[in-house]
Amino acid sequence: MDFVTKHAKNKKDNSSIIFKSVIAKEAKAKDKSVINATIGMLYDENEEFYTFKSVKDVDLSLNNEQKFPYTNSVGIKPFCDAVAKWVFGSYYDYFKEQENLEVIATPGGSGAISNAFSNYLNPGEKVLLPDPMWTNYTQMAYENHLGYTTYKMFDDNGNFNLQDVKESIINLQKEQNRIIFVINDPCHNPTGFCLERNEWQELINIINKLASKEHPIILFYDMAYIDYDKRGQEFTRQTISDFRLLNQNVLTILGFSGSKTLGLYGIRIGAMLGITKDKKASLEFLDSCQYSARAKYSMCSTYGMYLIAKVLGEEPYLTNFKNEIKEVSAFIKERSEIFINECKNVNLKTEPFKCGFFVTIPCQNDEAVYDYLVTKKVHVAPVGNAIRVAICSISKEHCKLLPKLIKEALLKA
Ligand SMILES: Cc1ncc(COP(=O)(O)O)c(C=O)c1O
Repeated sequence: MDFVTKHAKNKKDNSSIIFKSVIAKEAKAKDKSVINATIGMLYDENEEFYTFKSVKDVDLSLNNEQKFPYTNSVGIKPFCDAVAKWVFGSYYDYFKEQENLEVIATPGGSGAISNAFSNYLNPGEKVLLPDPMWTNYTQMAYENHLGYTTYKMFDDNGNFNLQDVKESIINLQKEQNRIIFVINDPCHNPTGFCLERNEWQELINIINKLASKEHPIILFYDMAYIDYDKRGQEFTRQTISDFRLLNQNVLTILGFSGSKTLGLYGIRIGAMLGITKDKKASLEFLDSCQYSARAKYSMCSTYGMYLIAKVLGEEPYLTNFKNEIKEVSAFIKERSEIFINECKNVNLKTEPFKCGFFVTIPCQNDEAVYDYLVTKKVHVAPVGNAIRVAICSISKEHCKLLPKLIKEALLKA
């Protein structure tokens, strides 16, 4: 009997990372010596789930009115303001005054991506995604009746492949008028790659040249891991300040993740921030995404919004949180240095890595490598011709241990 639609028939959740992380969690519950490097969540040096103290402090201060009532589909104002100030940093006033800026609460960064996909392309059109990528983008595209095509992240020297970005946009413009170009930077998932500021400036030049009234470009900036860039907050916000150079034919949507920035994974809170020089485009952004919010999930977690509004918007929480995130970035950096050094020692090749939650190791037989590692009580994420190691969730000691084991798995699997 055909109950589901033709479109729904093809739906098979391929989120193998979530699936593999459940297996790893169960294995670790039974045996504490299991190493769980499957998923992008922060764990401390004892491999216990990490919670920011400032977030916990705010959590304890919230009353029922700030947790349980309905609010609205756009999100409460203190949340939207606090997120915008956090995202734009010292450039907030500029974007608020000189550009058209709108903020909408979303269920995680995922909600921001999905809303953008549903409002900026017609059914059957394609989004332009990075390769390699966080594979959930493709499911989000399908859910919104879209296809996808990819641009290569890296050239032969491991640099950001601006040439391929350019050619991919030009090719897609032959098929459809509007382009959604998705970029996940810094600390790209799954590789840990980060663009340099001059690469961003070149990218902005390319987008400006290729965008026109007939061919508008929506730049979807997936900034989920921005606060773990080892170059620090001022550096990353300087890069964002360069978005002011994008012309009136470009709409920039920034996807903020409360999961990653504040460790609020299960609360499902994030935001989409639209900036444009075109007032009408800004109003359409607000209307269409507010409509999507109401139609898809009605509104976001009140609890999550008040938590973030207070941590990012009120003292002493904000200062405390800024200090904590610096500490966390520092321990992630230490872990990555240990891991990458050890990879060099055992001659294990990784995808171009600069910093962040993950390191990716290319391999032909990722599932076999995964299976071999499981026999050694190590759980990683097979991601299709590569395995991804979540260094965010394993101790320094395990960062030192793993490259040798992975090398062995590559040789034996
Ligand atoms: C690259 C990237 N973008 C966005 C997200 C969305 O996360 P969330 O919806 O939990 O904010 C993730 C989560 O893993 C991710 O890796």
